Amino acid sequence: AQIAQADFVKSSKKKEECPSDGLPEFALVGRSNVGKSSLLNSLVRRKKLALTSKKPGKTQCINHFLVNESWYLVDLPGYGYAVAPQEARIDWSQFTRDYFLHRETLVSVFLLIDASIPAKKIDLEYASWLGQNQIPMTLVFTKCDKRKKKKNGGKRAEENVADFLNLIQEFFQTPPPWLMTSSVTNQGRDEMLLHMAQLRNY
Ligand code: GTP
Ligand code: MG
Repeated sequence: AQIAQADFVKSSKKKEECPSDGLPEFALVGRSNVGKSSLLNSLVRRKKLALTSKKPGKTQCINHFLVNESWYLVDLPGYGYAVAPQEARIDWSQFTRDYFLHRETLVSVFLLIDASIPAKKIDLEYASWLGQNQIPMTLVFTKCDKRKKKKNGGKRAEENVADFLNLIQEFFQTPPPWLMTSSVTNQGRDEMLLHMAQLRNY
């Protein structure tokens, strides 16, 4: 399940502007700095593709990348950076919500979670919202290569992953599939591509 070709197609500001060719797509979301761009680069083995990453506060867009001319990887705005000082909450801008709830070709949301730090409230809220709205979701834990550090709670990636899965249990009738990845070692890359191939063939 290798990626032979990946091309940026377009940036959309609302669901209506997204490609209408009916090809299946996977959306990548996660907090800023979670390693989204790095994971994209690792998946497609192309450094330039994900360099389209936006700086916090810039116009938020839905970015479509066409893969192997048959499906899309969709880069969604990151969350968690403080736009306003009091805004530690998710930016539930209407278009993001709209996209998740009504984009018919969306096969699964890939929610990226940093496995090198303990669970963040905002990530739990995000997972909870997706779960409650029954949006198909896959959890992708990032930075699994990182060694434990005292300031990060002193836990290994495996422990943070187990904690997170525990904490979100109540939000789901069926626990979401999950993967452990590292863009440094490419851990989980083939598994993730295979998982996406399986989801597309349903
Ligand atoms: P924004 O574009 O700001 O939203 O961030 P992002 O989610 O795209 O994260 P990005 O890929 O830019 O990575 C953020 C930082 O984490 C960078 O310093 C990366 O080098 C580092 N990083 C990303 N993935 C990994 C990983 O798998 N392992 C390690 N050790 N570091 C990583
Ligand atoms: Mg980025």
